[in-house]
Formats: sequence, structure tokens, C-alpha cells
Amino acid sequence: MNTAPTGTLLAQAVATHLEIEPSILYFGTPVVLLSTENQDGSFNLAPISSAWALGQTVVIGLGREGQTAYNLGSRPDLVISLPSPAQWPAVERLAPLTGRNPVPSSKPKGCRFEPDKFAAAGLTSEPSQLVRPPRVAGCPIHLEARAERVRPDVSGDFVIVEAAVCMVHADSRIVVPGTHHIDPAAWSPLIYNFRHYFGLGPELGHSYRTQTPRNVEEPATAGPGRAAR
Ligand SMILES: Cc1cc2nc3c(=O)[nH]c(=O)nc-3n(C[C@H](O)[C@H](O)[C@H](O)COP(=O)(O)O)c2cc1C
Repeated sequence: MNTAPTGTLLAQAVATHLEIEPSILYFGTPVVLLSTENQDGSFNLAPISSAWALGQTVVIGLGREGQTAYNLGSRPDLVISLPSPAQWPAVERLAPLTGRNPVPSSKPKGCRFEPDKFAAAGLTSEPSQLVRPPRVAGCPIHLEARAERVRPDVSGDFVIVEAAVCMVHADSRIVVPGTHHIDPAAWSPLIYNFRHYFGLGPELGHSYRTQTPRNVEEPATAGPGRAAR
């Protein structure tokens, strides 16, 4: 039981926290690579970190003037490829590129038009099954999807995309054998943490709702972090 008087806790909070105004609030979300179809039938590829899953829907935040937002407004097919931490250099090679020509003035200094971003990043494409844009070969997870809703955000600078996933491809090395479960001990997302790249550290524990079966017997002394996945 915590017996510290409320006043003491408040004083500690004042002493340990600063009021700051960071220019960005990218507090660490997975990087995804979005493949979309350009007007001429070629394909664009863009790294995005504002993406999260809600059931079978992936919600994505995109700069309003980027080629990816432009494409999804007219051609809803997309692939969400999830790179591994080791692929961060290829992701960073994509960072200063846009598929939009001419380059919008809202893009950061140094941003340039690139019609073949797969080649520019040293990545290769592989065909999808249900949608037109290709998957990124070498990424452990691919989500084929369709943008069901594309609408402006409250600031007017971004669009919010709700994409319905229609097929999931996972590298067999990250799937618990004989199941449809991704093994969280085998898979690590690439995390974008205040514009720096990280992988995951060791597992700390698991949710009471985990449904992932164990694929190895745990020693009796194992801590809670390895007890289930
Ligand atoms: C790791 C990383 C994460 C990014 N996350 C986002 C994001 O969530 N939303 C966004 O609009 N742009 C994001 N960007 C910037 C876009 O990739 C960049 O604007 C790119 O030019 C978009 O390409 P496009 O104009 O061809 O769509 C991110 C860039 C990097 C390198």
C-alpha cells in the first residue's frame, strides 16, 4: 500500500517533469511501407509511422499533399508491408522521396521526386493476390487492403484513411507452426521513436487476453514474460 501523503506525490511530480513544447509527438509507433497505385498504373511506396490496427481495419494518417494520399483518394487498393528492424536503412533511403511531381511546397527541404522508389530504396516488389499494388519483398508481414474511407483530419493538413485488410501474408519464420498466430517472440516491428529507429527489447510480459499458443515448454523457473505468448 502506498502511504505517501498526496502532497508529497504532487511535489515529486513537479520536481521530475518539465513543461516542454516538442516540435513532433512521434512517441514510438511501428513503421509501415505503403504501396499504392499512381495514375499512370505505376506504383508508389512510402514509409509511414502513423498507422494502427482496430480489428481488421488499419487507420493511417497521411500528409494531405503526398502522393500516397492523392493515390488513395482515387484508387483505394494498397499494401501495408511491415519491415523488420534490420530494414531501417532502406526505409531511411525512402525518407526524402516523394512520388508527387512537381514536389509540393509543403514537403520538407531536400525532398525530391522519385518515380521508382522500390529501386531507389534497394527494395524489390512481389505481386499481391487481391489488390493491384505490389508487396515489398523481404518484409515479414504484408497486409493487402482497401481504403474504405479517406477524409480530412481536424487540422486540414492530413487525411485519415481507414483501410480494410483483405489478406495477410506472414513469413513462416514468425508464425507459430500449425496456427494462424504471429509469434511475438519471433517478430519485432521497426519502431519510429522521435525520428530514431529502434527494434523491440526483450519481452516484459503478456496480456491476459493472449491467444498465442506456446511452442516450447518453459522451464519451471521461467518468469511471467516467457510463460505465454
Ligand atoms: C519512418 C518514417 C515515418 C513517416 N511517417 C509518416 C506518416 O505517418 N505520415 C505521413 O504522411 N508521412 C510520414 N512520413 C513521411 C513520408 O514518408 C514522406 O512525406 C514521403 O515523401 C511520402 O511519400 P509520397 O509523397 O510519395 O506519398 C514518414 C517518413 C519516415 C521516414
